[in-house]
Amino acid sequence: MSKKPFYITTPIYYPSGNPHIGHSYCTVATDAIARYKRMQGYDVMFLTGTDEHGQKIEQKAAEAGISPKEYVDRIVSVFRDLWKLLNISNDRFIRTTDAYHEKAVQKIFRALYEKGDIYKGKYEGMYCTPCESFWTETQLKDGKCPDCGRECKHAEEEAYFFRLSNYADRLLKLYEDQPDFIQPESRKNEMINFIKSGLEDLCVSRTSFTWGIPVDFDPKHVVYVWLDALTNYITAMGYGSDNDSDFQKYWPADVHFVGKEIVRFHTVIWPAMLMALDLPLPKQVYGHGWLLFGDGTKMSKSKGNVVDPYILCRRYGVDAIRYFLLREIPFGADGLFTNEALIGRINSDLANDLGNLLSRTTAMVNKYFGGSIPAERQSEPIDNELIDMAVSLRDRYEECMAGFQFSGALSEIWKLIARCNKYIDETMPWVLGKDEEQKPRLAAVLYCLCECLRIVSILISPFMPETAPLIQQQLGAEPDILTWDFANLFGLLPPDAQITKGDTLFPRIDVDKEIEALNNLLTAQKAGESGIPGIAQIGIEDFAKVELRVAEITACEPVKRAKKLLKLTLNDGFGLRTVASGIAQFYKPEDLVGRHVILVSNLKPATLCGVESQGMILAADCAGNDVRVIFVDDIPAGSKIR
Ligand code: MSP
Repeated sequence: MSKKPFYITTPIYYPSGNPHIGHSYCTVATDAIARYKRMQGYDVMFLTGTDEHGQKIEQKAAEAGISPKEYVDRIVSVFRDLWKLLNISNDRFIRTTDAYHEKAVQKIFRALYEKGDIYKGKYEGMYCTPCESFWTETQLKDGKCPDCGRECKHAEEEAYFFRLSNYADRLLKLYEDQPDFIQPESRKNEMINFIKSGLEDLCVSRTSFTWGIPVDFDPKHVVYVWLDALTNYITAMGYGSDNDSDFQKYWPADVHFVGKEIVRFHTVIWPAMLMALDLPLPKQVYGHGWLLFGDGTKMSKSKGNVVDPYILCRRYGVDAIRYFLLREIPFGADGLFTNEALIGRINSDLANDLGNLLSRTTAMVNKYFGGSIPAERQSEPIDNELIDMAVSLRDRYEECMAGFQFSGALSEIWKLIARCNKYIDETMPWVLGKDEEQKPRLAAVLYCLCECLRIVSILISPFMPETAPLIQQQLGAEPDILTWDFANLFGLLPPDAQITKGDTLFPRIDVDKEIEALNNLLTAQKAGESGIPGIAQIGIEDFAKVELRVAEITACEPVKRAKKLLKLTLNDGFGLRTVASGIAQFYKPEDLVGRHVILVSNLKPATLCGVESQGMILAADCAGNDVRVIFVDDIPAGSKIR
């Protein structure tokens, strides 16, 4: 039987700055559902990506002195690396600068224009540049942008419009016919009120900037970012291309996970666009809350907390971060992110409750039975209570997961973990272990604990994909009893399973010392230090100004009037150039010819002892006044370094 498809998406992120822990929140949540659905046997399509066009990116790139594409390329690779680090299992990654997306958007724009759903008009209104949103006077809050609270300015331009106003009735009917379309419920009421207050047509093109997808029949316009962005959910599946088999298979999406501030775009504009295109509508849009930082906003201009996901993962491990994000804050609600709360959860839930349960259990199996629990086991009524709780856990967990209540699902798991720890106190295996006659009873106790841990390991796997297999290895459990189908059954671990005591899953953190270390880190960050004394931090945009390329040294000769200089001829993949380098004391010309080096290729030319140097090659200052050129012989000349 073919698997049932399940299509889930995150918003596509703006690569206007590096991702912070707030961006990770939605992606980790989406990943947990994708993994959960795969475990249940669905054919999952998990899409994420980046939303790369618009005036803000154009401006940031200009500030950095590079092209918008170069700018986004760099930040997008940071996003991709972060998702890899966080074990995000996305099946696709769409960039709105991907050629197939651009083409499909042009097609969609044209189709809507030809149908009369897009028309040309003139836009006048209040415009918020950072949000790239026009607002009506009534929508402004105290004269400022209702989303970000910043100044808006009056703006006017010729533009294309989407006839959103035509769709008010159909949207209200959609919310009635599909009561789960907007979740949580409270967000639905907001949207109903928004529509009832009057829908205006939506501006879908711009002429005031160029970093966007050109309207192919009127190229001085670029497609306004929300039409470009929202359509990613279908273009990524091949809609508008020659091969739309994935679109046929996966669309409509089962759920779009989005932050609460963009629910409006996903539940008003997006369904209206799909209606105009005569396409099926997503089954659900779930608007989650924000991770709030010290200053009470979702922007991570960290006040007093370390929020860099790289630093957090390095210090505490990826699974601890994933667990915290989904356990601490009920999905849908806002919640405060603090380092104290994070460390608190790691110590209590992960180190104490789960970690201790596993280490105590595996240690006792080894101590009393040399690693495998004998088949001769004597049960007692107290076991049944624990077993009932363990086998019924999957249902309670499933109910929470169906409503995306991650925190609830985890809390159900942790109730079983707590019950197991209490069961150890009640049954006192260390006392049983002293009496040879009690061995069958001891075997039953330890077996119950191992089976509970097996069930726990299956159910935490969508949340903690690194920890689950570590537990399973220690239990000596084979994959065939680690599937969803076996998560509500007891008694599957065979008597010959080899149970080993492994490394501590989550070492306890000394709270005071850790908070002090984090504070020092923050002080260094505030001072703009890089961690290397006296060296200021730079932003990615500063680094982006330096163009590094691999170049081959095609010729090399001494410079007559300068003992220290060598004159190098370099092929940088685009042509030849001359560089004077102060390495004559360290290298002979014949040793350098044919070698590949790293060239700073956008350095202003300078004349050194009569040689015009068009760049600089990289070398390291080593101990003992030694200088060594960085050779990269296996990388082709012309390759860009980033
Ligand atoms: N590009 C648009 C989305 C287009 S979807 C077709 C966008 N990008 S964004 O980068 O600004 O935000 C992406 C998502 O990150 C949003 O859902 C937003 O809510 C989420 N978050 C950004 N900061 C966040 C927190 N501090 N907490 C939780 N989510 C946060 O909007």
